Amino acid sequence: MTGLVELGRLRHVEDYKSPARQRTILCYARRKLAPAPGRMNPPAEPPIVLKMVRSDLENLPEFPLPAGYRLRGYQRGDDELWQRIQTAADRLIQTKPALFAEQFGSDADLLRQRQLYLVENDGEVIGTGTAWFNDDFQGRRFGRIHWVALVPPCQGRGLGKPLISVLCRRLRELGHEQAYLSTSSARVPAIRLYRHFGFVPLIESETQAAVWRELGI
Ligand SMILES: CC(C)(COP(=O)(O)OP(=O)(O)OC[C@H]1O[C@@H](n2cnc3c(N)ncnc32)[C@H](O)[C@@H]1OP(=O)(O)O)[C@@H](O)C(=O)NCCC(=O)NCCS
Repeated sequence: MTGLVELGRLRHVEDYKSPARQRTILCYARRKLAPAPGRMNPPAEPPIVLKMVRSDLENLPEFPLPAGYRLRGYQRGDDELWQRIQTAADRLIQTKPALFAEQFGSDADLLRQRQLYLVENDGEVIGTGTAWFNDDFQGRRFGRIHWVALVPPCQGRGLGKPLISVLCRRLRELGHEQAYLSTSSARVPAIRLYRHFGFVPLIESETQAAVWRELGI
């Protein structure tokens, strides 16, 4: 029986006679089954925080924005919009209203330079990402790709690539020479996306090493 067939039977796990088999099916399903869109099912196993780095910002791959989309910078009052996008996009964590200020503070000039919004032709804002920074990442100043998100109907359509392309370029324009990001083991599309841009795993523990091996990305 394949994993998928077993996942399909998750609701009927009690069909399995052996308690050990039931536990195995549930464990497998919790690891592999993404929460349904729009739901906030907490993962059964806490995802592992992973970091990725790019040791320079040269030779960045270019992915032009497809026709019908444009990018704009942060405008005063975008905080709520940012929160809405994150809440819609993220099925793993529940973002709280204070998050924006916690992450970015309130310097509008800084945000105008560093935070981007992806906009459709009709004016609908469908994504965001920030070319942020950390003055003390392993003792050095690093650019940081931070809080990238697209609303669910726009995920999986290749729009992440032009967004990351511009964010990396922006970091370089702002004088950064290297960049990092934090993600999680549950964010496979994001990790694949970052790999396209030459970000490589920063392995700080045996747990992380094991997770990267399992991901095989
Ligand atoms: C992460 C995110 C920005 C990626 O943007 P995107 O436009 O959806 O990404 P793409 O369509 O370019 O896909 C990226 C890669 O993931 C792969 N992918 C997409 N969905 C996938 C899935 N469900 N499982 C495995 N891989 C998947 C794509 O095939 C692509 O890899 P490839 O180019 O090697 O084929 C977007 O999916 C998103 O907003 N996710 C929710 C929020 C989030 O996780 N943010 C990242 C925080 S670190």
